[in-house]
Amino acid sequence: MATVDPAAKEAIYREARAELAALLDGVDDPVAVMASAASVLHHRIERASWTGFYRVVAPGRLRVGPYQGPPGCLEIPFDRGVCGAAARTGESQVVADVHAFPGHIACDEGARAEIVIPLRDRRGELVAVLDIDSHHPAAFDEDDRIGLESIAAFLGALFKLPSPESGASGPAHAPLRRA
Ligand code: SME
Repeated sequence: MATVDPAAKEAIYREARAELAALLDGVDDPVAVMASAASVLHHRIERASWTGFYRVVAPGRLRVGPYQGPPGCLEIPFDRGVCGAAARTGESQVVADVHAFPGHIACDEGARAEIVIPLRDRRGELVAVLDIDSHHPAAFDEDDRIGLESIAAFLGALFKLPSPESGASGPAHAPLRRA
């Protein structure tokens, strides 16, 4: 499926958001939120080859979170790849051709297009990015960005805020393999 018409996309994201709102009623555990969203989105977005989250675990460092699809890279610094660009700039990234994106990290040789959306908690802090890859060139466009930004805003607002004693950036994490 090379293209999906805007009305169909709007319906996909509206229905995904409604499904997630029902599933996550009263839920504030970030893992439960991200795992549910990865599943719902991956199964509703036919073009998706990988759907999941990278969490901010330290300043300038993302680590893989819940996802659907083949194994993803474990860690991505903010200065690498499409996910890093979304985290660094705080702006969604819609990439029609990943091979033309400087620093793209090829976790999956078949990936051709990618969309990455920042997730912020209720304080406005960046907590994760939502990453969707596709084997179809130019699989994502502005309609996907709008739909996914709405879902990301909903998901981020569910996240339990860190308790004051755990520190503003949460628990310390040991470094893992870098991308
Ligand atoms: N391609 C991504 C890396 C993550 S995965 O594809 C799952 C990037 O360049 O940020």
